[in-house]
Amino acid sequence: MRDEVQILTKFGIRFAPSDGTGTHPIVPDARPAGIRASVEGSLRRLRTDHIDVYLQHRQDPAVPVEEVAGVMGELIAEGKILGWGLSEVDESTLRRAQTVTPVAAIENRLSMMARWHEPLLPVVEELGAQFIAFSPLANGLLTDTVGANASFGDGDYRAVMPQFRDYGANAELLALVRRLAAVHDATPAQLSLAWVMAKGAVPIPGSRKPERLRENLAATDIVLTADEVADIDAALDVTAVPEVFGGTKS
Ligand SMILES: NC(=O)c1ccc[n+]([C@@H]2O[C@H](COP(=O)([O-])OP(=O)(O)OC[C@H]3O[C@@H](n4cnc5c(N)ncnc54)[C@H](OP(=O)(O)O)[C@@H]3O)[C@@H](O)[C@H]2O)c1
Repeated sequence: MRDEVQILTKFGIRFAPSDGTGTHPIVPDARPAGIRASVEGSLRRLRTDHIDVYLQHRQDPAVPVEEVAGVMGELIAEGKILGWGLSEVDESTLRRAQTVTPVAAIENRLSMMARWHEPLLPVVEELGAQFIAFSPLANGLLTDTVGANASFGDGDYRAVMPQFRDYGANAELLALVRRLAAVHDATPAQLSLAWVMAKGAVPIPGSRKPERLRENLAATDIVLTADEVADIDAALDVTAVPEVFGGTKS
């Protein structure tokens, strides 16, 4: 059974107490002793003897990536992890990391609303790594199911995300996504995920509902041709895309 699943987990951050806006600021910490304590904790909690891909969640300005990559090489040699990678990484940091211990994967934000990491796609391919796309549905906005009158409960991060603040500003984008989805007899969520996959990335949509997991998995049946992706990108370029959590349209 263990060989039939791949386990990816992360290290290198803790959350500070709430800053009063409802979010808990991230504090990076990649000191080698902390990494070693993290991996042992993950192995114990996951009740396994190895992690398939171990990702650094955020860069720690106090610990050079080369030092982190060195610890990853040691953990690979010890068999505790099979591979490693970085999240929220830029090209220069990725290339520096690669010189010490080859990188298996990166995990960055990528969706039709968040395209600023697209230039990293060919770099990741050149290095023989995998691009994992987080928040591929723009935190649910691209599913076209939230609506202008949605209210978010305490602790629901969408309450502080810019794309949900002025819902009407998404109208042009959502009309485009609806039109593209209809062409493929798909839902907006499926079309959005198919776009990410057509870019060569692996989307990891989050959902607490089994029926949505099934819907999202079925996006793997949609194949967008290179011409279709180019047409979608050209349409996105001239569409009003409001600010999304994590950045703005490139
Ligand atoms: N590396 C990092 O720094 C980082 C940062 C952020 C997120 N992530 C990871 O990325 C993954 C997903 O990102 P995310 O959750 O931020 O955003 P997301 O996948 O873009 O959107 C998730 C939201 O969309 C809704 N949803 C999912 N499928 C749907 C469907 N078919 N129809 C309608 N609504 C749907 C979910 O609601 P329901 O739950 O109600 O279905 C949830 O509110 C998570 O596993 C997360 O851990 C990583």
